[in-house]
Amino acid sequence: MKALVLTGTKQFDIEDLPTPEIGPHDVLIDTAYAGVCGTDHDLYAGRPGSAAAVPPIVLGHENSGVVAAVGEQVTRVKPGDRVAVDPNIYCGQCEFCLTQRPELCDHLSAVGVTRNGGLAEQFSAPASVVYPLPDNVSLKSAAAVEPISCAVHAVDLLKLHPYQKALVIGDGFMGQLFVQVLQAYGVHEVDLAGIVDEKLKLNAERFHVVNTYNTLRESIPEGRYDVIVEAVGLPSTQAQAIAAANKGAQVLMFGVGPQEAVFEMNTYDIYKKQLTIQGSFINPLTFSDAIALLSSGKVDVDSLISHEFALEQVQDFLDGAITGVSKAVVRLAE
Ligand SMILES: NC(=O)c1ccc[n+]([C@@H]2O[C@H](COP(=O)([O-])OP(=O)(O)OC[C@H]3O[C@@H](n4cnc5c(N)ncnc54)[C@H](O)[C@@H]3O)[C@@H](O)[C@H]2O)c1
Ligand SMILES: [Zn+2]
Ligand SMILES: [Zn+2]
Repeated sequence: MKALVLTGTKQFDIEDLPTPEIGPHDVLIDTAYAGVCGTDHDLYAGRPGSAAAVPPIVLGHENSGVVAAVGEQVTRVKPGDRVAVDPNIYCGQCEFCLTQRPELCDHLSAVGVTRNGGLAEQFSAPASVVYPLPDNVSLKSAAAVEPISCAVHAVDLLKLHPYQKALVIGDGFMGQLFVQVLQAYGVHEVDLAGIVDEKLKLNAERFHVVNTYNTLRESIPEGRYDVIVEAVGLPSTQAQAIAAANKGAQVLMFGVGPQEAVFEMNTYDIYKKQLTIQGSFINPLTFSDAIALLSSGKVDVDSLISHEFALEQVQDFLDGAITGVSKAVVRLAE
């Protein structure tokens, strides 16, 4: 089978790999689509994602496909089923797994990070992370189940109410997903700050964003928001998120900055405004919710996926040679 193998830092080779072997609890999947995100940029450049990727490895952690074969103990899915695959596999034995915080697992493994992923014609995964898709969810949009599931985990960590005014900072794919997920969870006003006029316009027109701010020329009102989602990961946008906080606000720090990055904030505000500053890491057990959000139409990704690449184009994309990409998926089959 054809696979894009990361063979070293910023090195890819297209190789002909043997079909992955499956054990009794595993599923072999014919890949349909694999989404590519900032994590792949990091792994390609030799930086860790949720874990380190050690070459040679096949990336691709946002995968959909069709079940090709199942191990003898598998009852969850059968050959021919259309599925999305949660990349993250938890050990089930460590103190974090055993206290209902598996995302913090000491022995996390992940499809497309620590084991071969979906940038190949086939990949395997334990049946426990393979989710059948409803008929009305396309394989292409199912490549977005993983990013949606990360947003679902994040909002699960917040206390959301309809009265709240929410602000998302960051008009990338995740920020735009947050707009829809916050609305789906009942928040009545969701605003968006970004730097790309077309994306701000799309979200205002199509997703009913009330106020948009292009922060290249407009400032975000201070002290206005009850919920702020920071989805960029820069010290400057993290500081903006804190400045936008109303009394009692929850500030979700979702963006991933460089490992050594710090930002300054007035710590008296934490006390005086009773702020909650919340981190969020990956997507424990939120795949079913993410699939339901797609199936119900509460989250639409078709208007956000801007590019469909072949395996051969991935390196150019990660090298920055293809610009104007809002969200890219790699098409392996369909
Ligand atoms: N916590 C998690 O589990 C998790 C999961 C997925 C992604 N992330 C992180 O979320 C962040 C967003 O992900 P993404 O896929 O949307 O990334 P992306 O690269 O697609 O988007 C980043 C966007 O930020 C916008 N931006 C840049 N500077 C800005 C500024 N000053 N103000 C407002 N917007 C600005 C850009 O327009 C860009 O589109 C990344 O840091 C990513 O690593 C975290
Ligand atoms: Zn991703
Ligand atoms: Zn564990």
